[in-house]
Amino acid sequence: MKTLLKNAKVFENKGKGQFVKKDLLIDSDKLTPDFDNEQSNCLYDRVFELKNKYIIPGFVDVHVHLREPGFFYKESIRTGTLAGAHGGYTTVCTMPNLNPPPNNLKNLEVQLEIIDRDAVINVIPYATITMSGNGRSELADMASTAPYVIGFSDDGRGVQTGDLMEEAMLVAKSLNKPIVAHCEDESLLDGGYIHKGEYAKDNSHRGISSESEWVQVARDVELAAKTGCKYHVCHISTKETVDIIRQAKKSGVDVSCETAPHYLILTDMDLKEEGRFKMNPPIRSMEDREALIEGIKDGTIDMIATDHAPHSSKEKSRGLEKSAFGIVGLETSFALLNTYLVQKGIITPEELVKLMSINPRERFNIPGPRTLGEGTVICDITVLDPNKIWTIDSEEFMSKGRATPFDGDEVVGKVSATFVGGILKYLEV
Ligand code: DOR
Repeated sequence: MKTLLKNAKVFENKGKGQFVKKDLLIDSDKLTPDFDNEQSNCLYDRVFELKNKYIIPGFVDVHVHLREPGFFYKESIRTGTLAGAHGGYTTVCTMPNLNPPPNNLKNLEVQLEIIDRDAVINVIPYATITMSGNGRSELADMASTAPYVIGFSDDGRGVQTGDLMEEAMLVAKSLNKPIVAHCEDESLLDGGYIHKGEYAKDNSHRGISSESEWVQVARDVELAAKTGCKYHVCHISTKETVDIIRQAKKSGVDVSCETAPHYLILTDMDLKEEGRFKMNPPIRSMEDREALIEGIKDGTIDMIATDHAPHSSKEKSRGLEKSAFGIVGLETSFALLNTYLVQKGIITPEELVKLMSINPRERFNIPGPRTLGEGTVICDITVLDPNKIWTIDSEEFMSKGRATPFDGDEVVGKVSATFVGGILKYLEV
């Protein structure tokens, strides 16, 4: 099957990144970026006219919850990866808060089989750090899962003692895999469920302190320096965390981090008394949001992940205090970041492609194209319409999850098509 993609602006990863107008040829699972259509006598099976659209290396999300095995009612590998394709993602990495938790190869195989059978885009799982996955028990059988996973995480829970984290880092380093940490000191939570700030105070809610996040980040960057382990911090949300990571990078620690669209766009003063505004870590203050944006601009924050965390409507229907933590994100991330960061001139479109595609691929050694500049690459690509105006409607999501604080918002920028291994997985009709 030969497909011609005509007249698009194609991402080349030179310098700060650039878009170059040209045609691309997809021939089975490969893409030829320096293809000369004018000179060719090629017959095509399909031609897409893509004037004013971007073609980029497909988005990569290193932090999603696809809920299988164990929580099929919230999401499945099928629906979660359909949501990924809908959002322009060609690879997602799935968190291990599952049942059974992937704490040994036998348990992980349950998930690997479902991925093999049902996934419509590339899925690379995480295995747990601890046996229970709750940051407290003895270490998991990390050696058995290592060859099949992107790294180790107890996401959803922080690793509660420095000794346990140090042990985990030493094992991860020996296996040449990163520790990917949800940082949350549970002794500092005080029953909180939204940010401990102005909104919580004004509305008599219990707050989650910023300290509960950054004290563990501070502990872990020291441990990463001591052990030499490759270390990545999940969903950073506080200004203190940005500073700690900035300093750690300056002193040569092998650390990276992600934040999520909602922390860059909303503050606690945007909260409403609805479960769709509740996630962990919580949406923080204006100062935190500004520090995160600064971190994006100066490279302290390496990538943007969604923390796509679907729950049932019932679980999200109990207001801020009683709903489950987590919102969906795969199907809205590009539009939101394009609207609130690119269109407002905070970052360039090229920088957004680096944050959502190139940087996660490079940091985690994920297969797929880093540039569409030259040579022949695996055709994991996404076509974007950066100017399309549309309204987010959670009823249209492929995900089973519907909870997003952005439901009903008008946004600019839409995914037009997603190809994985040269196969069209999503096409906007
Ligand atoms: O909001 C969240 N939801 N944060 C997490 O860390 C876990 C996630 C989930 O699994 O629902």
